[in-house]
Amino acid sequence: MGQLTDKGIKLAHFSDLHLSGRKDRKGLGRLDTLFSVLVENGCSHIIITGDLYNSTEPEDWASIRNLLEKKGLYSWDRVTIVPGNHDLINLEEEMRFYNVLNPDNGSRVRRLRRKLDTFCSDFREIITGDESVAGFPYIKTLDYGDVSLALVMVNTVFPWHNIDNPLGARGRADKAQLKALYDPSVKKALRNSFVIGVIHHAYRIYETGVLLDQAFDWTMELKNRKNLLAVMQHLDARLLLHGHFHRFQTYSAGGIQVVNGGSFSLNHRRYNQVTIKANGTFEQRFVDVGGGGGFVNRE
Ligand SMILES: [Fe+2]
Ligand SMILES: [Fe+2]
Repeated sequence: MGQLTDKGIKLAHFSDLHLSGRKDRKGLGRLDTLFSVLVENGCSHIIITGDLYNSTEPEDWASIRNLLEKKGLYSWDRVTIVPGNHDLINLEEEMRFYNVLNPDNGSRVRRLRRKLDTFCSDFREIITGDESVAGFPYIKTLDYGDVSLALVMVNTVFPWHNIDNPLGARGRADKAQLKALYDPSVKKALRNSFVIGVIHHAYRIYETGVLLDQAFDWTMELKNRKNLLAVMQHLDARLLLHGHFHRFQTYSAGGIQVVNGGSFSLNHRRYNQVTIKANGTFEQRFVDVGGGGGFVNRE
């Protein structure tokens, strides 16, 4: 586990790798480099908020697991990963199976459920810390001595639908997950911890007011974002981390600082760094990794 210094505990967050598959040598090489920098930079925990691959093949997922193992990072207390829509929904497959006369909604839901179960099983060591398998939501509490950190992971990928979710890119945190997080035992477990919510979908997207943008917005939005925000407020979350909308940005929602970890696929040299101090304050900044191995801080 990382060490607490006067400067606090550092977390690294990035998102949306969109690797083409297990043979994406260039992408995996860049990821290898970034992991090295994060370790050099003293990051105690690494959070990746989904869209790891542009394929939904578990055989591909193993390449990130292998890389993390090689770097000595494949453990519950070093890394947290949530899936994105590109990890769980195969659009071509959905469209092929779709039959307008016999929509068979149940099978769409079952396919997503099966893929999510496989994700939770394949990454079980970093979800539960052992061989047991757990689904979403799940919580990690990491004790660094003066700082106790709690991560609350919610799956926001919801099934493809020809009308309601035509690109498979809309998000929703289902009722069962929200209900589970309102259980009094959760709030009790998080007491005295610095709480961070971790999801894939963006809390906020364009919202430009331009009709063309709005037409695009709804295909990517997190449908019940207000409900998700309410549960995060209930749990006294200080930060909400996400990806999906490929833009490095930070903004506030309902008193919670929200950070979009942007897209590794567009900029593999930038990540979100959060430093949590023993006095309960925190600092957030996007760090640009320099070409020579050094890096420059950037607000
Ligand atoms: Fe993405
Ligand atoms: Fe996404």
